[in-house]
Amino acid sequence: MNAAIRAVVRAAHYHGVNVIGVKRGYEGLLTGDIQEMSASSVSDIIHRGGTILHTARCPEMMTDAGVDKAATLIRALALDALIVIGGDGSFRGAYDLSKRGVNVVGIPGTIDLDIGCTEYTIGFDTAVNTAVDAISKIRDTSSSHERCSIVEVMGRNASYIALWCGISGGAEAVLISVENENDAETVINQIILNRSKGKVHNLIVVAESIGGSEQLAKEIEKVTGIETRATILGYLQRGGAPTAVDRMHASVMGYKAVELYVQGASNRVVYYKGGVHSHMDIAEALNTKKKYNNDLYNIIKTLAV
Ligand code: F6P
Repeated sequence: MNAAIRAVVRAAHYHGVNVIGVKRGYEGLLTGDIQEMSASSVSDIIHRGGTILHTARCPEMMTDAGVDKAATLIRALALDALIVIGGDGSFRGAYDLSKRGVNVVGIPGTIDLDIGCTEYTIGFDTAVNTAVDAISKIRDTSSSHERCSIVEVMGRNASYIALWCGISGGAEAVLISVENENDAETVINQIILNRSKGKVHNLIVVAESIGGSEQLAKEIEKVTGIETRATILGYLQRGGAPTAVDRMHASVMGYKAVELYVQGASNRVVYYKGGVHSHMDIAEALNTKKKYNNDLYNIIKTLAV
């Protein structure tokens, strides 16, 4: 997020455009919590996790009255455009504002990678790297004690973090809430099979949308007799220094968002697809659904043996 904020501010100043930073997303917009952003105000933040502008969930923006109020405030502040960094909820708010005449540009930011129009969302790579690092550490205990370890990762209803962690962490099974769903019984059978082939420790990744890791650990231990421990990684995955991949996408997307504004485009979302950063209409972006691809899941199954 910080790398994107920096890119927006710096690119805007390059083009002679003033930038106002809105604190806590839509909540700050509705309460007028804003600040001038000079080029130097974003110094020394590219390597920092979180966001210097803070963030918040804003239920008021889900109401017509809230969106009306936000649009009125944007006009009163004489803002020419609103650049929104966030996920589907943030884009929906931006789209509602665009219907009230506000020019918006969306930048996809969420660790969940669950925005249909883009192959990258800011935060994903850092979250996956943090989770895989944690999995590698948990793996040491798992192998030393010859245990089974269950690691639950974030990702909301999408399973991208779980799938990537499953492959990169060398998991034997991943429990996700989409097609080809594993259940406890299949996982237990896989563990028993792998132990019979000489494996001395096991690693299972569980998506947060499935949850129940502690319960699963008890069940595995009861059926197999193998000592099993569950770890829920939680907010660990949302912090820390962003990876170079994240900084790169965030910087390019922030730069592009300003470029769109300067070129007179309106109501666009910046996205990344097939190695290229591009942009599309915000209504189209919201209507683009991500097709679940079985490949990653099948690769985990094949490599688990
Ligand atoms: O969308 C990012 C995310 O971390 C999800 O992976 C998770 O389900 C959710 O946010 C947690 O939200 P909150 O911080 O509001 O509990």
